[in-house]
Amino acid sequence: MPLKITARGAHALDLNADVVVLGTWTFPTAKADKKNKDKKAAVPFVDALDRALGGGVTRLVAKEEFTGKRDQTLAVPTLGRLPAQKLVLVGLGDRDKVGPGEVRSFAAKAARIANAEKAKTLVVQIPDGLESRLRIVAEGLELGAYRFTKYLTGDRKPKESLEEITIATERRLPPDAKRSISLGQGIAAGVMIARDLSNEPPNVIFPQSLADAAVRVAKDHKLKVTVFDEKEIEKRGMHLIHAVGRGSSHRERLVHLSYVPSKKTKRRFVFVGKGITFDTGGISIKPAQGMGEMKHDMSGAANVLGLMVAVAALKPNIEVHGLMSCAENMPDGNAYRPGDVWGSYDGKFVEIINTDAEGRLVLADALAYAAKELEPDLLVDNATLTGAQVVALGTTYSAFYASNEDTAQRFAAAAKTAGEQTWRMPLVEEYRDQLKSEVADLKHTGDRYAGSITAALFLREFIGKTKNWVHADIAGPAQTDRPYAWHGKGATGHAVLTFLSLVERAGK
Ligand code: BES
Ligand code: MN
Ligand code: ZN
Repeated sequence: MPLKITARGAHALDLNADVVVLGTWTFPTAKADKKNKDKKAAVPFVDALDRALGGGVTRLVAKEEFTGKRDQTLAVPTLGRLPAQKLVLVGLGDRDKVGPGEVRSFAAKAARIANAEKAKTLVVQIPDGLESRLRIVAEGLELGAYRFTKYLTGDRKPKESLEEITIATERRLPPDAKRSISLGQGIAAGVMIARDLSNEPPNVIFPQSLADAAVRVAKDHKLKVTVFDEKEIEKRGMHLIHAVGRGSSHRERLVHLSYVPSKKTKRRFVFVGKGITFDTGGISIKPAQGMGEMKHDMSGAANVLGLMVAVAALKPNIEVHGLMSCAENMPDGNAYRPGDVWGSYDGKFVEIINTDAEGRLVLADALAYAAKELEPDLLVDNATLTGAQVVALGTTYSAFYASNEDTAQRFAAAAKTAGEQTWRMPLVEEYRDQLKSEVADLKHTGDRYAGSITAALFLREFIGKTKNWVHADIAGPAQTDRPYAWHGKGATGHAVLTFLSLVERAGK
């Protein structure tokens, strides 16, 4: 259920709520600001707070050295003088350094504070200048309030949940305020669908149930959807998806979602996601330590579904397709093996080196299918593809690779607009030699080093005539074990907002 979010040109202290969050830009302190004779005025809200609480707030702000730096918080005791149980000042940072990511993180923080207080109602005061960013504020509120609580009962089940939020603005509301908020909520709903599916345990989400979820979501959002089962996948020559999927009793699926705008358009973007619903490594089995995290190995596919939901809310004037390439990587009497040679959708033969490099195989067939059957103007894949990506960039940045400079710049600009962290990596041509095989057209893994790069080079072999291609390796940021930015623990939905921003720029 979406939150009830409304915006009002009002002061937060005049509104009623369980929790009140007052957002403020960094302000000069009395010490630093020698020109400022009226020292109180430098601190936003403080006069109103002093009046409402009988003084003392100015001193508290000075004593705690609260200056509105980014992420700085100051809880102000209300001692029953305000209807709110809790009042918190939250810093946004320097006004000219605050981008979309910082705004979304601020709103998420407000929602998280409310959740921690078991609040049902929240008022968030946004400082002047942010009334034009209501869409991002709404995204942040929804994404910050998000929790995956489906399997908690009794005491473990949260007793209250946030229901109603009022965004109070210092300045007058822009005329499209309502629309911005509801669009922000529609976009957040997409990201939350991606998170939900990725957070589900692997006994619940397997290829067929993931496909079922996609069909349900597609119906809800008036998207077209078709599902290929294992027979159709074999019949169409997608032998690499088949090879990965054959060791599991939950067989492989390929889901194709599409959004076609009401106005005719020739432009078409295709997004492809890795949907390994659980990755044991297969015959090249992984160590036990941390294997459970591999339930998130379908985050790329979940992102594709989340993106399609966001696209349905945005209604851009461009055709958008989503392919979810789903399989479970299991060891079994029927499983594929190191040493196997399998054909692929585009005809190339692949020698299997390590069955734990399964992601690039399910992507290869989906990419080749997209390239040949959909002839996209832009083809983007995303996958929790390599441990090497995490080693290279850590857990909050994804890696991306692009087939040309222009596409790389477009992708980087989209990420910047979205406020998501991603870094371009090189497709090092020399390393392509590592994929040469004695027995087949290609080996599917390279040497020990630069594992994220050789994975990208492998994928590039399957994009056919596609000129503009991006591969996003999201192994690090797909999931988190500590809350940060607008993410709680668990799946993040990282990359959905960047993809949406790519679509939005093209479909204006
Ligand atoms: N799903 C993993 C990659 C991964 C690792 C994602 C850690 C998130 C966190 C992928 O299928 C995998 O196992 N990759 C191997 C490839 C290797 C065998 C060439 C890896 O990175 O070790
Ligand atoms: Mn693997
Ligand atoms: Zn994997």
